[in-house]
Amino acid sequence: MLIEARNISVKIGTRTVLKEESVTCKPGMVTAFIGPSGAGKTTLLHCLGLLLPIDKGSIYLNGMDITNYNTFQRRQFWQKHVSFILQDYGIMDEESVAFNVTMKSSLFGKRIGGNKERLLQSLDQTGLKGRESELASYLSGGEKQRLALARAIYKDANILLVDEPTASLDKDNRQLVIQLLKKFARRDRTVVVSTHDAEMIAASDVIHELKFPT
Ligand SMILES: Nc1ncnc2c1ncn2[C@@H]1O[C@H](COP(=O)(O)OP(=O)(O)OP(=O)(O)O)[C@@H](O)[C@H]1O
Ligand SMILES: [Mg+2]
Repeated sequence: MLIEARNISVKIGTRTVLKEESVTCKPGMVTAFIGPSGAGKTTLLHCLGLLLPIDKGSIYLNGMDITNYNTFQRRQFWQKHVSFILQDYGIMDEESVAFNVTMKSSLFGKRIGGNKERLLQSLDQTGLKGRESELASYLSGGEKQRLALARAIYKDANILLVDEPTASLDKDNRQLVIQLLKKFARRDRTVVVSTHDAEMIAASDVIHELKFPT
């Protein structure tokens, strides 16, 4: 799906964080938001995902203005079309790895719910094979990050918004995540990342640079 921001401005308190920012994120491509710390990469990602209200401008989904979606419409948009991997990864520590991927449990969480084959595939692809029954709290930071990616692969949403996908990963796992994101995009999915990582930037199809508003 095509997701766009057109001339959006965001103020947080008295500070202008985004000023008339426009970006088009196309299906089949990895779009990277780059720029100095504090320039608004995370904010723009949140705006595209309708997680943060904007003061001016519009957000479009396949050419349709979705800026003023109400709570119900936003929830539907998230459920149907979007996977987020935000900076806290959204991992539920007290649940198993499997539950964190499928969000489904059975028999009071003792058995694995959801589609088992797809679950195992997504764990395999993210280097978490055999870990499905472990508690998520046992995972390291980088493993949690890959778990969040496994969840996104399992969900197979049209749009994947990822804040700093390769932060806190070693070189091998950085490449693993970069290749997975590219592969995800190649299946006509829209992948948008914010990043400082040179390898991630080099692997992206479209680079969008953010500057401090003047
Ligand atoms: N909830 C908030 N309250 C106050 N200020 C905020 C909030 N969220 C973001 N900001 C401000 O907005 C600006 C942009 O922040 P943002 O997180 O989008 O930057 P970034 O480009 O993602 O930076 P980094 O590379 O460090 O992640 C910063 O100056 C930040 O202080
Ligand atoms: Mg950020």
